[in-house]
Amino acid sequence: MKTTLIVAMDKARGIGKNNDLMWHLPADMKFFKETTTGHIVLMGRKNFESIPEKYRPLVNRDNIILTRNTSYSAEGCTIIHDMKEVVDLFSAFDERTLFIIGGGEIYRLAMEADMIDEMIITHVNENYDADTFFPPFELCDWKVETVLTQEKNERHKASFTVVKYTKLSRSREA
Ligand SMILES: NC(=O)c1ccc[n+]([C@@H]2O[C@H](COP(=O)([O-])OP(=O)(O)OC[C@H]3O[C@@H](n4cnc5c(N)ncnc54)[C@H](OP(=O)(O)O)[C@@H]3O)[C@@H](O)[C@H]2O)c1
Repeated sequence: MKTTLIVAMDKARGIGKNNDLMWHLPADMKFFKETTTGHIVLMGRKNFESIPEKYRPLVNRDNIILTRNTSYSAEGCTIIHDMKEVVDLFSAFDERTLFIIGGGEIYRLAMEADMIDEMIITHVNENYDADTFFPPFELCDWKVETVLTQEKNERHKASFTVVKYTKLSRSREA
């Protein structure tokens, strides 16, 4: 099973503020939905609760929530208390992708665990006043490909570029 991290960040690697996103970019939301539909999404408890109730659990995806709270429950979701548990939930031969969808603590855990095969990063070409950040990473470890670009328009107050980063060491081993 492939593990892909998907995130949108500003020029300072900011990803959120006050447990919310800092932008409204419909083309990026559409891209996120199309990319993750039919797959597995793993998220932190705070990220899950930041999703408007009518949109959660995220439809047509297996929703997995990480929390330390052993009495936590959320309808239609699987709860785990250790990132490693996710490996036991699905077969290694599962053809779906495990998407790590944040927030900041979960991205950091996944990067530290070195479990990411691929990152899909929406680089938003603005600076916001974030309180949550994506961890720094070494560009030289990744093959970089541009997936799509979006210019500013009446529906998008910021331009952005979606970039796919493929882990080089993993590609060489494959
Ligand atoms: N721009 C993007 O692409 C993007 C994507 C997703 C989210 N976000 C933003 O990110 C922010 C939320 O991120 P965040 O860092 O505050 O929270 P988070 O990563 O969504 O969730 C943190 C929670 O995960 C649980 N957790 C963390 N480490 C754990 C561990 N080792 N074992 C078990 N459970 C653990 C804890 O839940 P308990 O407290 O319940 O124990 C912790 O409070 C929001 O602003 C959101 O809008 C942005």
